Amino acid sequence: MANDTHPTFATRLVTWQRVHGRNDLPWQNTRDAYRIWLSEIMLQQTQVATVLPYYARFLERFPDVTLLASAPDDDVMAHWAGLGYYSRARNLHRAAQQVVSQHGGRFPADVALLADLPGIGRSTAAAIAAFAYDVIAPILDGNVKRVLARHAAVEGYPGVSAVEKKLWLEAESRLPQSSTDMVAYTQGLMDLGATICARSDPACLLCPIADDCAAKTSGRSNEIPASKPSKVVPQRSQRYLLLTHADEILLVKRPAPGIWGALWCLPEIGDDEDAEATAHIRYGASGLGHTEILPPIAHAFTHFRLTLNVAHLVADQIEPRVMQPGAMWIARSELAKAALPKPISRLLTSL
Ligand code: ADE
Repeated sequence: MANDTHPTFATRLVTWQRVHGRNDLPWQNTRDAYRIWLSEIMLQQTQVATVLPYYARFLERFPDVTLLASAPDDDVMAHWAGLGYYSRARNLHRAAQQVVSQHGGRFPADVALLADLPGIGRSTAAAIAAFAYDVIAPILDGNVKRVLARHAAVEGYPGVSAVEKKLWLEAESRLPQSSTDMVAYTQGLMDLGATICARSDPACLLCPIADDCAAKTSGRSNEIPASKPSKVVPQRSQRYLLLTHADEILLVKRPAPGIWGALWCLPEIGDDEDAEATAHIRYGASGLGHTEILPPIAHAFTHFRLTLNVAHLVADQIEPRVMQPGAMWIARSELAKAALPKPISRLLTSL
């Protein structure tokens, strides 16, 4: 709705954002595309409060794209460890290398070129382009889908591509005319989705676009967007070997891609394998006087749940020549420096 007396969707959102939105987050008030890009990748699937300490530590270690591009994989992974969705970190590193090799170390101001970089989809590309370069392009992350689905009463689950297509059209049709509004507009959509237009019981009284919101007007804010059709989450279990010798723990590097790809983890063993024999054959461990089965650990991934069954073996002696490639002994005091999956780092620090 826009006429002589009623401001457009974009104008209302921009005005609201400048007064009521978030304006002091560490990735705001900068035009440094590197810092903006890093925040957008960290904020994919992760809450602001979780990202804040990781963001600060990451920038301290890798203050610009060239330093990130030339850093060793392990160092990058160690600074990401605990944030989850590790393909984001591997893509981040590759994207930094491409920015250096293909774009002279400067993030392009073009949405299509940004979206060609690993880990950057259409919405993230538009967010970076808007925040860093005032480019007029639509974003559509999970929260924004909810805002637009409600405002336009788009039926169906937004994860379905036909529904998503409609939402992109809505996103395109609401953009501001002026590029100088793009920072506040883009942030305003994110802020509205993260605060006012909550999944349940949205605070419509405080919403700047409530008066022509189709879901609100028809009293259907709790039904739109439609929720995901439910699916049973598969259960898996895996045995692991926690092999210790004196002050050291044996870790193996996981293959990428795959769960916890490129992180250091406890070695897996098959359900029918004998833990002591495996420790001896693969890692040269002997004098295995003490074996303890630890309480199972539950860990939820997006697509399945994993139960980790860990056998703790204490070796008296190690035959170093038997070590397999991709395995290392690490002192407990060095664990904080290694990129470990969260349940493994919790387990090892609790020992
Ligand atoms: N989520 C994604 N991008 C964001 C941003 N710029 N500020 C707050 N939350 C976000």
